[in-house]
Amino acid sequence: MDPFIPKIALITGASAGIGRAMAWSLAPKNLTLILVARRLDRLQELKDEILKTHPHKVIHLIDSDVNDPELTSRISTISNQRIDILINNAGLAVGRDKIEASTFTDWEQMISTNVTANFKMAHMVVPWMLKNGGGDIINLCSIAGFLTYPGGAVYCATKHAVHAFTRVLREETAGRNIRVMQISPGMVETDFSLTRFNGDQAMADKVYEGLDPLRGEDIARMMQFMLDQPRHVVIDEMITMPMAQGSPTTVVRGKA
Ligand SMILES: NC(=O)c1ccc[n+]([C@@H]2O[C@H](COP(=O)([O-])OP(=O)(O)OC[C@H]3O[C@@H](n4cnc5c(N)ncnc54)[C@H](OP(=O)(O)O)[C@@H]3O)[C@@H](O)[C@H]2O)c1
Repeated sequence: MDPFIPKIALITGASAGIGRAMAWSLAPKNLTLILVARRLDRLQELKDEILKTHPHKVIHLIDSDVNDPELTSRISTISNQRIDILINNAGLAVGRDKIEASTFTDWEQMISTNVTANFKMAHMVVPWMLKNGGGDIINLCSIAGFLTYPGGAVYCATKHAVHAFTRVLREETAGRNIRVMQISPGMVETDFSLTRFNGDQAMADKVYEGLDPLRGEDIARMMQFMLDQPRHVVIDEMITMPMAQGSPTTVVRGKA
């Protein structure tokens, strides 16, 4: 890699939650940031805040749905086909209904965003990383990538798919200076539940009631730890839950 060309980190889903926290974590590093999300106002606010602390930071914003077929060419133009770090994070759950009551619209939104768009990001950056001498990919999975819970069939299925894809990508890139990694959290208090319950704040708050959930910053710190390892070290996966959680369905509330 040419040491004079600044490295570039691409974060999808940077307008909120884990992606936003990861943008803050990478802000002090010698990296150009490309931040992708649909809500430009949120991205702009984040950029303005980061620039107050890191005034020389180069930050590119891309207001796009990750499902937009134009996204690849926008990233390609801005990055000049060089992505050194991909935080493949954009994703969502929609609804908590049982299979027979859930809607195909919700299924399609989860499958296209969590699965197809996530996979396409890797498909885009891997050839660039190979051409440029290497890179790091962190996929956002979930404990739903290997465990399940009633009301989460399609979300769990999408994260199981991410889990399998990450494993294969790891095998295919072994020995090629691309570190493929994955982080699989349990409950993180972000906008995740607000989205899942279609903006119902009371329902979202109930998810985290009576316990101390993980925060976006906790996940960002772990991702940073993965990235900061010496080049020969790959932390294939981190699985993390709050103290009060033992599985998707085992959550202890109201105890110190
Ligand atoms: N929170 C948890 O408990 C938890 C647990 C395990 C795994 N995860 C995973 O962590 C990742 C981040 O979630 P989060 O907890 O940080 O949730 P969040 O606060 O709701 O953030 C989700 C981010 O993804 C973006 N996004 C969603 N759909 C998009 C689309 N179609 N195109 C572009 N951007 C899109 C959102 O931006 P815009 O709306 O502005 O587009 C937002 O920036 C997801 O993959 C999620 O499945 C979360």
